[in-house]
Amino acid sequence: MNHPFDEGLRHRQVLKRSDDVSTNPTGHPTFGDLVTRRMGRREFLRGTLAVSAAAGALTMNPALCFRVRAAKPDTPAGQFGFPELNAGIDTTHHVAAGYDADVLIRWGDPVLPGAPAFDPMQQSADAQEWQFGYNNDYIGYVPLPLSSGNPAHGLLCVNHEYTNEELMFPNYAGDTAETVEIEMAAHGASIVEVRRSADGKWQYVPNSRFNRRISPRRTTIELSGPAAGHTRLKTTADPSARRVAGTLNNCGGGLTAWGTYLIAEENFHGYFGGRLPTDHPEQRNHRRYGVPGGAYGWHHYHQRFDVGQEPNEPNRFGWIVEVDPYDPNTSPVKRTALGRFKHEGAATLLNADGRVVVYMGDDQCFEYVYKFVTRGRFDSGDRAANRDLLDNGTLFVAKFNEDGTLEWLPLVFGNGALIPESGFHSQADVVIEARRAADLLGATPMDRPEDVEANPKTGKVYIMLSNNSKRTPQDAHAANPRGPNPYGHIVELTPESGDHGAIRGHWDLLVVCGDPSKPDCAALWHPKVTGNGWFTDPDNCAVDNRGRLWIATDDNSATTTGRSNGIWAIETDGDLRGLPRHFFRVPAGAELCGPAFSPDDETLFLAVQHPADNGEQWPVFARKSTFEDPSTRWPDFRPEIPPRPSVVVVTKQGGGKIG
Ligand code: FEO
Ligand code: CA
Ligand code: CA
Ligand code: CA
Repeated sequence: MNHPFDEGLRHRQVLKRSDDVSTNPTGHPTFGDLVTRRMGRREFLRGTLAVSAAAGALTMNPALCFRVRAAKPDTPAGQFGFPELNAGIDTTHHVAAGYDADVLIRWGDPVLPGAPAFDPMQQSADAQEWQFGYNNDYIGYVPLPLSSGNPAHGLLCVNHEYTNEELMFPNYAGDTAETVEIEMAAHGASIVEVRRSADGKWQYVPNSRFNRRISPRRTTIELSGPAAGHTRLKTTADPSARRVAGTLNNCGGGLTAWGTYLIAEENFHGYFGGRLPTDHPEQRNHRRYGVPGGAYGWHHYHQRFDVGQEPNEPNRFGWIVEVDPYDPNTSPVKRTALGRFKHEGAATLLNADGRVVVYMGDDQCFEYVYKFVTRGRFDSGDRAANRDLLDNGTLFVAKFNEDGTLEWLPLVFGNGALIPESGFHSQADVVIEARRAADLLGATPMDRPEDVEANPKTGKVYIMLSNNSKRTPQDAHAANPRGPNPYGHIVELTPESGDHGAIRGHWDLLVVCGDPSKPDCAALWHPKVTGNGWFTDPDNCAVDNRGRLWIATDDNSATTTGRSNGIWAIETDGDLRGLPRHFFRVPAGAELCGPAFSPDDETLFLAVQHPADNGEQWPVFARKSTFEDPSTRWPDFRPEIPPRPSVVVVTKQGGGKIG
């Protein structure tokens, strides 16, 4: 049944977290027999990966197409030693045998000194500003103190991406002035002191002087870099174009070598409403980003979110925000040199020459992969000297050639078509309209680039490509070989000569996701993949301190498939390359975000986001999940407490490294 309210709600949730639409008007070239060509050149296809043949979309060498025997119980020798978890779905979370997975902090738990206890029937914006926010996403662990590398005492830096109002509020029937304020207070980030006690259990410290909430209501954020002070960022509230009220849709992130925390602003377009005059000079820019997205009611109560009233406000979101977690009194800074798009994350890496490289994805269908290379070098002896490293450097966008080579195209004013004739008058215009600049340089449109993570041990870089139902067989590309691509894939980059600052490199496919027992999935895995081992929709990822890759998934329709989202460890090298193994799964309706290891690999922090979402898609529940009637009341399981997004800590029973 298509109840208009339900449809609107579903549309809003899609806008808030997984924008499976495209606003890229660029034409997509036809490449034809992509997989055949890729197979011809790639060593990993010399019989090592399992292939299930595609019907129609892919043309394959039949000799390479063999079926996978799913669900073989043996665990081949590789880097990972844990017993594989069974895939499945129910109301709670599960971890591989021999591990504990305990809830550390939940939506509404007190964070700032004096914060009230969580009371879902008596919510207020003021209480929420002092409590842990909603929908935890990125997690970063920084040790206390920074130089100690302490694996058992530190600060957790946690993003709060968006809100699920129907699960948050009793009797929710649409936004009011009061719910909008609470929603805003539930966005942003939390910084929370955490400690592991002698019994091995983790706890957070509710009254720590380090604890901090960052929100779109109360946190003033500075702008720096090429777009700071620019006319296109001026608003009624901020004629200086240097100070923004807050940060929005805080998705993935990263940590820097100098102990700061980077927050990625992702689907910022959804918060804007109203109408821009058709002849307004920002019209083309806003259309390219899907502004106004209209996923919330905030613009009815705050003029700055109405583009008809404040046409420049959207230009103040979509950036990477740098936060010093060690000093709650410092202002976070939006580093505009890193470009404006729907940032998924910001994986930083120290290049051999001391420059800092930040890899970033733009999470929307047919968008691009970027990197930023600093001009200056990291100074390990003087933390303050690194403070503004991210303000100067070069932003690049990736062009994936069909022959497996890669070019990084500099998004620099004056380069190619980035000139006044195309509407670019300075580097400020280039970073504000990074997407259009990348279009003009000929960047490769990808299948929703989510997290990008560099492996410091091997120098390889992994790109999670979540899915792209809009790609057709005609616009399939060697690096995005499936059209449509409902299940996602993972691309591996190798920078030239191990130099992450280089403008050339190579790329490869690590895996193409989906059920290997279904030929029309056209999945590519190691032949030993089990029925529990395969996954879809890779989203966030982490590399542990031994250089091993762990992947978190976000399958919007996980409730329909009988397999929850979760975390899978995957072999990236040697004979077992492309072999995944299931480690953790979330309760019904949730996705898994923020995997983060402690410095000793003995703890894995996980963010369970939007538990109980999509109740109507879960056959066991088969109705809309609401505050009153959710598909799960994880993690409290008390009749008066709604489901709560929470951070979970995984440790090994009896101690030791994870995995
Ligand atoms: Fe916020 Fe692309 O996940
Ligand atoms: Ca994500
Ligand atoms: Ca990550
Ligand atoms: Ca996601």
